Amino acid sequence: MTNRARRHIVLSAVTAAATLAGWRLWHGRKPDRTTANSTPSTPAAADTSQALASRERFSQPLRLPLHDVHFGELAVSSQTLELVATRSQVAVFPGAPTPLWHYAARSAAATVLNPLLRIRRGETLSVHFRNELAEETTIHWHGLIVDEANDGSGLHPVAPGTERDYQVQVTNRAGLYWYHAHPHGRTGLQVQRGLAGLLLVEDAEEAALRKHLGLVWGERDLPLCIADKQVDAGNALVYPEQGADDWIGNRVLVNWTPEPYLDVAAALYRFRIANTANARLLRLAFQHAGRSLPFRLIGTDGGLLGGALRVEDVFLAPAQRIDVLVDFSAIKPGERVLLRSLDYVAMENEDESGDFMPDPMGDHPGAMPMGAALDILEFRVGAALPGREAVIPDQLSTLAPLPDTSAWPTRSLRLRMDAAGGWFINDWNFLRDGHAVAFAVKRGTCEVWEIRNSMTSMPHPVHVHGFQFRVVSRSVSPMDVRARQVASGGRTPQDLGWTDTVLVWPGEVVRLAMDFSQPYRGTQRYMLHCHNLEHEDMGMMLTFAVTD
Ligand code: C2O
Ligand code: CU
Ligand code: CU
Repeated sequence: MTNRARRHIVLSAVTAAATLAGWRLWHGRKPDRTTANSTPSTPAAADTSQALASRERFSQPLRLPLHDVHFGELAVSSQTLELVATRSQVAVFPGAPTPLWHYAARSAAATVLNPLLRIRRGETLSVHFRNELAEETTIHWHGLIVDEANDGSGLHPVAPGTERDYQVQVTNRAGLYWYHAHPHGRTGLQVQRGLAGLLLVEDAEEAALRKHLGLVWGERDLPLCIADKQVDAGNALVYPEQGADDWIGNRVLVNWTPEPYLDVAAALYRFRIANTANARLLRLAFQHAGRSLPFRLIGTDGGLLGGALRVEDVFLAPAQRIDVLVDFSAIKPGERVLLRSLDYVAMENEDESGDFMPDPMGDHPGAMPMGAALDILEFRVGAALPGREAVIPDQLSTLAPLPDTSAWPTRSLRLRMDAAGGWFINDWNFLRDGHAVAFAVKRGTCEVWEIRNSMTSMPHPVHVHGFQFRVVSRSVSPMDVRARQVASGGRTPQDLGWTDTVLVWPGEVVRLAMDFSQPYRGTQRYMLHCHNLEHEDMGMMLTFAVTD
């Protein structure tokens, strides 16, 4: 189904409730994406039915996997882990429980939902998976270097009531990865309903850094998994059964905690932050007394950077992860620091290509529009810790230098929307073209992938399965990106390490260094897609193959 067709479904629901003229009137009064484009948006007043009394804000202690009874963590070693995709009612919000679809690790002692999996580099992730849902699903290991059979993409769906084994020898660098459902056409729905979890890879180099900084996992080295959800008055997660477009929500959860706060010492903290939202792009900043508290970016999707970079904010697109150090030691006890998404120009220019659009916020009562400021997590700062302060080393890791790509062949990939409103990568749309292989690359060869986003577009987080890659350059970037370019080729701090998901803004040309070395044989097929999950489900995805 094309984007346009989906939009017609939304539209018919809108027109059933309002006449055309009435809709125009209503549309004119609501914040929409066109106005967010031209001016920095002012946060709109939330729908009164969804607005929280101020005493409810930041009233819930942040769930931490190491200590949480539901969303716990599991150290994985060679032993096979049994994971089930299932549904249950979970107390997420105060009041009624929330029906979730989730993964579950069941043991005699406890059932852990969407466990944070910890594994050491070099070990084998061995999962026996059973689908207890009423529809196909998968477990996709996002960011892992993996063969087709164990990738968990929609090429190998797991039918209801059936089982599948995943076996991945983890060769990735230490860092935060994640896993989620990936059935064709239903990824947005299944992830929004809860089928996603984190995967932490550890190695000796990263452990040495942690020790040097005096940080202990679960104490001052913590995961923050951020996702917005559209929640109704009965605490149910809302997602249209027929599919959606750019699904943003009215509640922001961190580690499945609404309105979260965290008690912290006035000391150095490390946060592994994942944006597991369907569609919402975040511009993350830590704010103290209304001003940004600079922090250090030390890692990206594929692990540690070579050195720490001082930043005031970072754009974090759906599926991306960052590793940051935040120093609370100059904050007085009793004061608070807020993790926020600051407002930004959303550049959702695709609306101009359509002749008629319903109110994009119509499905999301109470949600902040894309690009509007959003409060995420409150840190309540306590006393300082005894002992000396940690010094951040100049060199964090042995990061390979950016390869010289001047002799590599270039493959152009153009992101665009057609006149009917369907998303395409070159001339490929997955809904139309299915599993047909768009192109093949020879194993062991290298290519530059040059991704161009059209102006009449929006920011697309482009993700490649099976490989980690490097960003070579960024050009024709919008002002918000230009202001953050710190390295050769117009690269931003986030472009300086290994990554698996790269944000490409409207009009931008982003060049990637792709190295197709891998230890597998035969033909291995992978997905290349936009990680705005609604775009993926609308077919902004293609299949490529790596061959002998
Ligand atoms: Cu995170 Cu193709 O997925
Ligand atoms: Cu992936
Ligand atoms: Cu997209």
